[in-house]
Amino acid sequence: MMVETGTVRHFEGLLQEMIGLSSASVGASVIRHALARRMAARALPDLHAYWTYLKEHRDERQELIDCVVVPETWFFRDPEAFGAMTEHLRGRERPFRLLSLPCSTGEEPYSIAMALFDAGFAAADFTVDAVDVSTRNLAYAERAVYGRNSFRGADLAFRERHFEAFEGGFRPHDRVRQQVRFTLGNLLGPAVFTDRQHFDVVFCRNLLIYFDRETQGQALARLNGMLAAHGLLLVGPGESGLPSLHGYVSARRPRAFAFVKAAAASPVSVEPERAAARRTTRALSAPAMQGRRVPMPIKPFARRTAPVEPVPPVPDVTGDDLTAARAAADAGLFAEARKAAERHAAQYGPSAEAFYLVGLTYDAENEEAQAAGQYRKALYLAPDHREALAHLRLLLQRQGDEAGARALTRRLSRLGEKGDT
Ligand SMILES: C[S@@+](CC[C@H](N)C(=O)[O-])C[C@H]1O[C@@H](n2cnc3c(N)ncnc32)[C@H](O)[C@@H]1O
Repeated sequence: MMVETGTVRHFEGLLQEMIGLSSASVGASVIRHALARRMAARALPDLHAYWTYLKEHRDERQELIDCVVVPETWFFRDPEAFGAMTEHLRGRERPFRLLSLPCSTGEEPYSIAMALFDAGFAAADFTVDAVDVSTRNLAYAERAVYGRNSFRGADLAFRERHFEAFEGGFRPHDRVRQQVRFTLGNLLGPAVFTDRQHFDVVFCRNLLIYFDRETQGQALARLNGMLAAHGLLLVGPGESGLPSLHGYVSARRPRAFAFVKAAAASPVSVEPERAAARRTTRALSAPAMQGRRVPMPIKPFARRTAPVEPVPPVPDVTGDDLTAARAAADAGLFAEARKAAERHAAQYGPSAEAFYLVGLTYDAENEEAQAAGQYRKALYLAPDHREALAHLRLLLQRQGDEAGARALTRRLSRLGEKGDT
């Protein structure tokens, strides 16, 4: 079914308003295909009829959301994030509350539970809340039967420890599943959690990349209201430049993309920060926020609480330059990250990892041409470099190069299949 471009804009606007999705991040064709599929499913003749139908049927709005979201996830994606979580929690008061938002099809929250069991914590020591805006993804997560695509890492020993064979796939043991509670929710919609308790660790990974700058700020303000004063925030690699613009500093865990509140890192300002967190929580649960998504009356947290833009600690660049480059990129210090990667190249010659890291820094600064060039160099040296493939794909999607993005999707899925054996 053909879909006219002019009117597609209305739907792009609606999706942005409902779930924050910026059409530039996924590419216009993703939205056009979703619209065509949904019109066919409802046997509606054109976009005008579908628009009217959408306005009148809440369940169809959910169907459209399910059609456009990107569910890409796997167990222990970026394993260092889970290591940073267990290290952060060690020695702290139990039980811990952890949040995976968005949790997609459940691989991330189950990985959290497995990592905590592996670190020696008991079932009574923690609970994991898992939230996503897609009912389809949540149904998959609750059924919890996973195929090969969900196991992509090099080290799959965790599968022996925590899974059993079930209906042609693998299912986490009851013990793991019982730790996780799934809830339908929208990071930008009505407050999901109305209690006053905060989370000790929040995983908000690979969601902010689908938002525009303003919405990223709103999302971080929301997360700020949910995270305890001394909590740990984990984002995705392509998002690691954002938290430091909104009141966070790097937790200095290489490749974990982990952050703590700036005020928690500086003891003198902890109290004002707590008070501000209380104000933010009140603002988030105010009646105005209980309906559909509305423009947020909250300014980015850092602007009100931190006296100046927080300055993250400068990473040690005298040791392994590549580790330093990662730490600097993680801390949002992009110029330092690039310098350290260049030093590494000067000493050891070009490497895929260094090109990839430099690409990430340009990506975070919206220097798309430079970022794409670096990702391509990384892939020239290491054609199977998953992160470079994934980031270049997102970048091409943002630029509207759908054929290029599809080619990378095919390469990534071939890699997924190979990596599972
Ligand atoms: C790429 S997955 C990320 C999953 C996991 N955090 C990871 O990094 O592997 C993105 C998920 O975000 C969800 N999502 C999109 N917009 C959302 C919103 N406004 N609130 C909550 N979840 C959202 C989608 O349904 C999808 O499952």
